[in-house]
Amino acid sequence: METKINSIEDLLLVILVILMIGISLVLIFVIAQTNNATKRLIAHKTGQEYEEFDLGKWWKKISGTTVSVKDEKAIMLHHDYDGIRELDNHLPPWWVNMFYLTIVFSVVYMLVYHVWDKAPLSAEEYELSMEKARKEMEVYQQKQGNSIDEKSVKLTLDDAGALANGKAIFDANCMACHGTAGEGTVGPNLTDEYWLHGGSIHDVFKTIKYGVPEKGMISWQSTIKPKDMQDVANFILSLQGSKPANGKAPEGEKYVADAAAVSDSAAVQ
Ligand code: HEC
Repeated sequence: METKINSIEDLLLVILVILMIGISLVLIFVIAQTNNATKRLIAHKTGQEYEEFDLGKWWKKISGTTVSVKDEKAIMLHHDYDGIRELDNHLPPWWVNMFYLTIVFSVVYMLVYHVWDKAPLSAEEYELSMEKARKEMEVYQQKQGNSIDEKSVKLTLDDAGALANGKAIFDANCMACHGTAGEGTVGPNLTDEYWLHGGSIHDVFKTIKYGVPEKGMISWQSTIKPKDMQDVANFILSLQGSKPANGKAPEGEKYVADAAAVSDSAAVQ
């Protein structure tokens, strides 16, 4: 069940309720007027007595027979508990009726929330809105992820989740040519500081995205999502200096992080 936590929607609801109350009042007024007019017509035809609807009388009826404060002495009961005395006054009918309404409401509330489980309790409501937020975040991240390219790609070496995802992608797609630990087999060693196509995150992403088809490195952009390419690029950079066994001899140029801008422009031909 969808819950509304949106404040605009809450505001609209309040406005709607106020409007409904206003319209109801107008309706009551119109009905009373019509009623009076009908009575007047009938009285005119038949010559009978009639009683017009009177707002003042009507109000008296619902405000009840409550004794006012200045006349309270007359209805004070006789017993006295240390100066505390009881007053035998009637509650105004509008108040009593409201009280009955709360009883009816509590029964309905109880059935809806606790017996039929038709509406979520606060804890459940919290869970639902958290779930909704999680979904919205996922959609947002997906959008962000799909827009990653060699310019916007980021170093996420401190993100364990991203690295784990990168490793999974590496194991599934890259191990065959780059070795189980990136030590290099058909493809070059990815754990040393020497790179054929640059060692910045932008270079590595670019090599993965477009590949070096003439040298046997596949272009992955049609099979791996941008966010996943970012993750696998970061995973590769996390292997720097890991010195796996049987590491292939260095190829290419030594990459120095400070020279990022230079090697960026010297990426894939
Ligand atoms: C079919 C074999 C093969 C597969 C599979 C493969 N690669 Fe490669 N890769 C190569 C070869 C060969 C090269 C070297 C290209 C060259 O000589 O220019 C290379 C180069 C690279 C480079 C550049 C290294 C440098 O020194 O600049 C990176 C980064 C890379 N691969 C990442 C990956 C990733 C990530 C995957 C998996 C998604 C992958 N490769 C899958 C064969 C492969």
